[in-house]
Amino acid sequence: MDLSTRFVLLIPYDAINVEIRINIEEYKSPDELSDEEQQLIERAILTARDAYAPYSKFHVGASLLLDNGSFVDGNNQENASYPDGICAERVAIFAANSLHPGSPMKMIAIAAIYQDKLLDQPVYPCGSCRQALLESENRFKHPVRIIMYGKVGIQAVNSIKDLLPLCFDSSFLKSK
Ligand code: THU
Repeated sequence: MDLSTRFVLLIPYDAINVEIRINIEEYKSPDELSDEEQQLIERAILTARDAYAPYSKFHVGASLLLDNGSFVDGNNQENASYPDGICAERVAIFAANSLHPGSPMKMIAIAAIYQDKLLDQPVYPCGSCRQALLESENRFKHPVRIIMYGKVGIQAVNSIKDLLPLCFDSSFLKSK
């Protein structure tokens, strides 16, 4: 490789910057949300208390409302072999898909308790749970509203695409 080729490869002076906008709603209290959404938050808080999280002591609850009107709750389940545990969101999503196959997910609320205190700031789903939420949106062609609860502030998005832009989905697996 001569010097001029290396220069071109290492200095991307022609790079284009692309800005991505995401939409996040912010609320100060659950009272600003619908009755259904408040109920979902209450369920997420309640189910967080039942999490099995003896290692991290970080108790997460996730509650889903399906299109068929059913609620499904889930909490994180840990294991002495750490990677074998699973997050609250995926417990709830997989349970919903198993108990109510074919019913799209309308919304999910997430709350967390750490050292016996409800978190002040909204709790965000991890990368793997975002991927599972994306699969649900794509599979059912139905956006999922995600409500991330915190005691002093709540954030909500109307699609996982706002939390997972530039996502990997099944379109990459189809032959062109
Ligand atoms: N956890 C969840 O259940 N959901 C999240 O969105 C973030 C993290 C769990 C996994 C683990 O049991 C504990 O919280 C600490 O990471």
